[in-house]
This record gives sequence, structure tokens and C-alpha cells, in this order.
Amino acid sequence: MGYEQTFRRSVEDPEGFWREAAELISWDAFPETILDTTDPNHPRWFADGTLNTCFNAVDRHVEHRGDQPALVHDSPVTDSVTTLTYRELRDEVAHAAGGLRSLGVEQGDRVIIYMPMVPEAAIAMLACARIGAVHSVVFGGFAPRELAVRIDDAKPKVLIAGSCGIEPSRIVEYLPIVDKALDQAEHTVDTCVVLQRDAHPGELVEGRDVSWAALMADAEPVDCVPVAGDYPLYILYTSGTTGTPKGVLRDNGGHAVALRWSMPNLYDTHPGEVFWAASDVGWVVGHSYIVYAPLLTGCTTVMYEGKPVGTPDAGAFWRVIDDHDVATLFTAPTAFRAIKKEDADGEHLAEHDLSSFRVLYLAGERTDPDTYDWATDLLARPVIDHWWQTETGWPIVCNPLGIEQLEIKPGSAAVPVPGWQVDVLDEHGQQRPTGENGAIAIRLPLPPGALLTVYGDDERYLDEYLSTYDGYYLTGDGGYIDEDGYVFIMGRTDDVINVAGHRLSTGAMEEVVAAHDAVAECAVIGVADDMKGQIPVGFVVLKSGTDVDDGQLRRELVQMVRDEVGPVAAFKDVRVVSKLPKTRSGKILRRTMRRIADGEEYTTPSTIEDATALDVISDAIASR
Ligand code: COA
Ligand code: AMP
Repeated sequence: MGYEQTFRRSVEDPEGFWREAAELISWDAFPETILDTTDPNHPRWFADGTLNTCFNAVDRHVEHRGDQPALVHDSPVTDSVTTLTYRELRDEVAHAAGGLRSLGVEQGDRVIIYMPMVPEAAIAMLACARIGAVHSVVFGGFAPRELAVRIDDAKPKVLIAGSCGIEPSRIVEYLPIVDKALDQAEHTVDTCVVLQRDAHPGELVEGRDVSWAALMADAEPVDCVPVAGDYPLYILYTSGTTGTPKGVLRDNGGHAVALRWSMPNLYDTHPGEVFWAASDVGWVVGHSYIVYAPLLTGCTTVMYEGKPVGTPDAGAFWRVIDDHDVATLFTAPTAFRAIKKEDADGEHLAEHDLSSFRVLYLAGERTDPDTYDWATDLLARPVIDHWWQTETGWPIVCNPLGIEQLEIKPGSAAVPVPGWQVDVLDEHGQQRPTGENGAIAIRLPLPPGALLTVYGDDERYLDEYLSTYDGYYLTGDGGYIDEDGYVFIMGRTDDVINVAGHRLSTGAMEEVVAAHDAVAECAVIGVADDMKGQIPVGFVVLKSGTDVDDGQLRRELVQMVRDEVGPVAAFKDVRVVSKLPKTRSGKILRRTMRRIADGEEYTTPSTIEDATALDVISDAIASR
């Protein structure tokens, strides 16, 4: 069946389509009701079935592929490679699950995982899934405040941390960050489990901390606990427009079915093959395509603790593909721009055997046509841009290579994935004509794998995603669909930005900047950047009568954002201005500011309070 037919079937007979896909998963009780839309805003997939995600990702494969590598940890920053077969992974996970149980973690309890890219991060996630606990992984580049907010929201019983992360330029000590976060948080955890790393073991707090090694040594292995299809698997926090992150809540059944289906059909990757998502377990790509999808499929997954450049050079990706016979690589366009900058002629490529390598997938931001052309010429393989979000958990728009390889149109992520009914709407909810820009929305019910709600805040879920257009999920992205049905994603329509493939909230940065004593008001916007796609730039208006040195103020603000949001925000550019453009009701005109900063045409909004403020912004940008 080709793409058109497959897509049509997914829309006309979603229950039949996903029932068939569900057969790829091993169920303790196969679901009788595939989709329950009693509450149209909260469709439930496979709710009366029972399964265990860890069983499907690990134990299930032990019989037939027990000696096959399940996870290869390749770490140029520690100069080590560690391989775990499916049998070894099962043993590790069963022990870790037993360890968590011994700490009192039961089904439904939350566990926060704050770890670098080490195998124990995946083991901890799977151990939670094994006993029906709900994990919430927090990206290592976030600062204490961000961790504290997540602790207070998820209210975990246990926090699992690495003692340090290893960035090419420095060791990042995690435990002081954990200590500060726990100080700031109102919620207290019962136990912190600390994975001591040789590069920098940390000091354990007596009565609170236990080392990972001690926990594992004492633990009895435990079995998988079957849970209902719509039972929560994890919470993953993602940036919204305000400073408070949203806890995307995902289920077990829909997630397992969707991811397992996506591997052969979208990624054309099959059991036994090697799949490498060069991302981080702290992001959704890491959850779905470092940990769950490859393991659910019986693939070997590569977990890479390094960068595309600098560990040690721009040939790092080719070396990993060669060493581990990677068939499919998935990363962010920014990684390719970084490689191109250092090795434009691809000289490092010639040093490696890439015969195993079939296809490159890019996501996290739009693949600009220049990057697409460069990567395609260099690799002489398909380069597939595909679009998705933390909320959706897997691709919404993609060239479905496993179903049918469609024409590639650079600049487009290709066509809606079966299950996802994508429309482009105007402000009244009417479909925009072909080729014209609008808000991208997805018709309900969303397919399996999409978020259930915002954890602990269903009102926010309804308000931010479902209230704008009746019967639709609002993606927050804008773009258009061309005459062939190809979707072009042109960028966010809100204040979320994408820095080097990392999703961040300018609102969170504004909260930090506004807290400085000298700042009367501020705006942080995302400005186009050749390497990182976007970078944040802050504009601040000082309190009258304030006498501060501009340079000193900038340094302080940069440090504050680094300390409060994290280095990953890459907040390095601050301009002091005399005023900000605002509407008469006081709303800062961030979108107009963005257009000015990106050198795009703009019209002066009729609601503007003082049009000269736009010249102030133009001058501040020109002085960059
Ligand atoms: N823990 C602690 N700090 C971290 C971190 C982590 N897990 N990840 C990043 N940081 C820090 C970095 O050390 C850096 O700090 P610095 O300002 O002191 O140098 C800062 O956060 C920004 O890091 P990064 O975004 O990695 O930028 P970079 O300039 O060091 O490298 C790239 C640029 C393009 C090489 C890098 O961003 C990259 O590999 N991007 C791909 C991202 C990706 O895979 N995204 C997932 C989507 S699929
Ligand atoms: P995240 O939730 O971190 O995965 O970020 C999701 C956001 O990244 C989307 O809403 C888009 O703005 C952007 N994004 C991801 N993939 C693409 C893509 N292929 N093309 C354009 N934008 C993308």
C-alpha cells in the first residue's frame, strides 16, 4: 500500500488501522476498545488493554536476540564505549527497578531523572516503566531553578542524578545543582540516587543520598507490572510561552504502538538494525528515538555522549557511524551546520567506511535549503526533514520512506504522517487557501502517542492547545501546504524559540532579566542565527535614575540567565534601550521586534502606542 492509501485508511478507519499496528506490541490483555472518544478532548487509546512498556522494549527481545547489542554508549568525552546486550540490559533494568522498589517507589509514583548521556539514564527510565512508576527526565543543561520548578510540579519520591556531566570545555557538577534545586523547591524527595562518575564523584548527603552502585548491589530483580493502555508512562516538561514549563503527560499503550509503527514505516528501520539519534535523553527525541522506539523494535540504539564537532573534530559523526554500523542517523540541522562550518569539503568523511549508513533524518527546527543541499551532496543519501513536537511524541509530517519514498522538496518536511490530519487555518478557523500561510492545527482526535494532557493542569492543556479552534489541536507553528499537499513549517507563532535544536521559552528568560534591580522592563526575542537557527536577544529599559555601567549590567544579566535557566539558553546578547514598542494596552510588540531583528518587512501595528519605539529597536539591532 502506498502513502496515499495508507493515509486515507488511517483517517477513514482509525480503529482498524491502529488495531493492526497494536499487534506489533505484546499485550498482557489485547485492547478490545481501540479508541474511546467519550470525552472528545481526551481521546483514550487502547485504554482497556494492559501491557508493560519495559517488557516490550527489553524482556521481549531476550529470547530471540538476547546477545544482540541493545544499547551502545559511545562517549568520546570519557574515551569509552560500553555495550549492553538485550540480556544484560534486562538484568540491569530489573535490578534498578528492584532498587527503586526498595526505596518505596510504587506504581504511579514519580521519579525525576537528572542525568547526562550515560546508559544508566536509559536504565533508570526503563526501570520506572517496569514498575509502573512515572519518570520525568530533566535535561542536564538546565539550572537549579528549572529543576526546582519541575520537582515542585512532579512531586517525585526519588530523584536520580549523575554526579557530573562532561562538556568538552568543562565538567558540569550536577550535585550542587541538585542541592540548590532541592533547597528552592517546596517539595522534598525521600531519596536521591547518585551515579558516581569517575570524572568527578560527588559528595553524598547523609540520610538523603544513596549511590547507584550501592542500590544496584543490594537490589533484587523485579518483574514487569502490567498497566492499562492509557496509564501514564512519563512526564516531559517543555517550554511554553510563560516561564512555567508544561508537563507533557504520555501514556504507555498509545506511545508503544505509535513508536513501534513509526520505525519501519517512517524511518524504514527494522529489527536488528542500528539506529542512532544524536540528541539527548532530556529531550523528546531522546525519549522516543534514543530509548523507546529502537528498543521496542529490537534495534541496537546508539547513545552518544559527545558533540558533532570538538569531540575531537568534525568527523565525529562519521566515526560513530563507521564504528557501530549505523543504518539510520537522526539529529538536528544545527549539528550539520556546525560540521559544515569546520569541514565544508567533508574531508573527514573520506576517512571512514559509511557503507552501513542509509539515511539521515533531521528535526528540531526547519532544515534550511542550504543545509539540505550541503548534506545531500556530501552524503549522497536521502536527507529527510521531518516535523514534530514534544507534545506529539513522534513525527506529524515526514517523508514516509518505509511506506513510499516521495519526492523531496527542500524546505518542506513533506506530507502528513498517517493518523495526523493537518490543516492550515486563519484567525476565524477557516482553512487557508493552498500556498498561503496560517496557523497549523491538527484535527482531533490526535493519533496514539500524542500527549494525554498537561500534568496536573488540564485547564492549561485545554486552554493552550484546544480552545483556539473547535475540534483542533493548535500546534503553535505557522506555515502553509502547497498544491501537492506538502507542508512547509515556517516557525513558531508564539514566544517559544529554538536554539540549536533546544526548545526554550523567552518568557522564562524575561522573568529572570526583569528581576534585576536596574531593569524597569524587558523583552527577550529569538533572532535568526546562522549556526544555532535562533538565539535569544534581550532588550532592557532601565529604571529612571539608575546609574549602571552598560557592560557590567550586560554581564550580570547574562550570568543571571545562565544561573537561573541554564547555559543551554545561550543568552549572551543584551541591548539597553530607551523604550520598547508596545500597544496602547501595554502589550510588547515582540513579533514586530522579531521581524525588525531578522531584517524582514514589517508594518507598523495600528495599535502601537509610540511608533518611534520601533526606530529605537532598529538602531539597537543595527549596533550589533
Ligand atoms: N549539561 C550541561 N551543560 C550543557 C549541556 C548539558 N547536557 N548541554 C549543553 N550545555 C551547555 C554547553 O556546555 C554550552 O555552555 P557554554 O556556554 O559554557 O559553552 C551551552 O550549554 C550551549 O550548549 P550547546 O547548545 O551544545 O552549544 P555549543 O555552542 O556548545 O554547540 C552545537 C553547538 C551545534 C554543536 C550543539 O548545540 C549541538 O550539538 N546541537 C545539536 C542539538 C541536538 O541534538 N538537539 C536535539 C534535537 S534533535
Ligand atoms: P520540541 O518540542 O523541542 O521538539 O520542539 C518542537 C518545535 O520545534 C516545533 O513546534 C517547531 O517549532 C520546531 N520544529 C521541530 N521540527 C521541525 C521541523 N522539521 N521543521 C520546522 N520546525 C521544526
